[in-house]
Amino acid sequence: MEFPRPALPLAALSRTSGFVVGALTAALPVAMYAADASSTQTPSIFDPRSTQTTEILAYSTLVLGICAVIFTVVTALIAYAVIRYRARPGDDGREPAQIYGSNPLELAWTVIPVVVVVILALVTARTIVDLQIDERPEGWMPVTAIGHQWWWEFHYPEFGFTTANELHIPLSDSTSGRPTFLTLESADVIHSFWIPRLAGKMDVIPNRTNHAWIAPLETGTYVGQCAEYCGTQHANMLLRVVVQTPEEFERWARAQQRPAVDDPKVADGRATFLKTACINCHTVRGTVATGRFGPDLTHLMSRATIGAGVATNTPANLRAWVQSPDHLKMGARMPAMGLGETDVDGVVDYLITLH
Ligand code: CUA
Repeated sequence: MEFPRPALPLAALSRTSGFVVGALTAALPVAMYAADASSTQTPSIFDPRSTQTTEILAYSTLVLGICAVIFTVVTALIAYAVIRYRARPGDDGREPAQIYGSNPLELAWTVIPVVVVVILALVTARTIVDLQIDERPEGWMPVTAIGHQWWWEFHYPEFGFTTANELHIPLSDSTSGRPTFLTLESADVIHSFWIPRLAGKMDVIPNRTNHAWIAPLETGTYVGQCAEYCGTQHANMLLRVVVQTPEEFERWARAQQRPAVDDPKVADGRATFLKTACINCHTVRGTVATGRFGPDLTHLMSRATIGAGVATNTPANLRAWVQSPDHLKMGARMPAMGLGETDVDGVVDYLITLH
């Protein structure tokens, strides 16, 4: 009796366990913030809602299936050998007959893995060719996403506005809407753009432009997050994607195009904001605040969260944030301005008028 040499089956086994670990971690909730009900969803790759994540799941299922078969066969053979040929009382200690060179067996354990690897390589190549698009196809909506430590900036060149952390895009199913074509850039270090149910991971790299696209098949709010360690608050570099019908999206975009509300009732707070260093980093369109380091605040209150998803956008959280960003998000690049209580109140009163 002869057994497969360990080299190939063991290599297959370790490859399989790699996939199993990968699959388990992919299924874990990646964005566990409980900012509101929609964000408590588990952003699982096994629950796709876009054209490309559906294809990624089909591909992953095939790969996992093949690996599961290999894993089962190899484990069963090992278990059989361990049990059938275990040491027994009364063994005479002599080696069994040694047999070398079985052509059929050696061919089998060489050819089968080669065929499996070739199949996996072909399927992988086909999936990459299907999903990787580097030029914006005619009619797709362009959006530029810029990764910052630790938040996301979104430009809508067709509409001429900028927003942060909450990406709105139109539905793109067979009957309506159009896909969104993303240009991905980084302002500082390497990040990774990932919305498990809508788009596979794509690295966001300084001095380089990458692309991704989203063709969402169902309206709703989807959560995602930076998937490349990028510093202290990597775990709180969350993003959410709101998929809307084309009409709803158009309405949202038109509202975002408008300059900021200028409510005379909060003139004091506005004045405090505009004479503080806030304006070096933040833009409020229609005012002297034109900073680009931090999120555009023109329509701050149209967003459900602050601090890239670290808290819900309520006046109380906003106040805590303005007073001491470190308290909610340790290491955040936004400094505490050291304003007095009255000034903080004024600034927050102003901010909550920015619908
Ligand atoms: Cu950005 Cu991790």
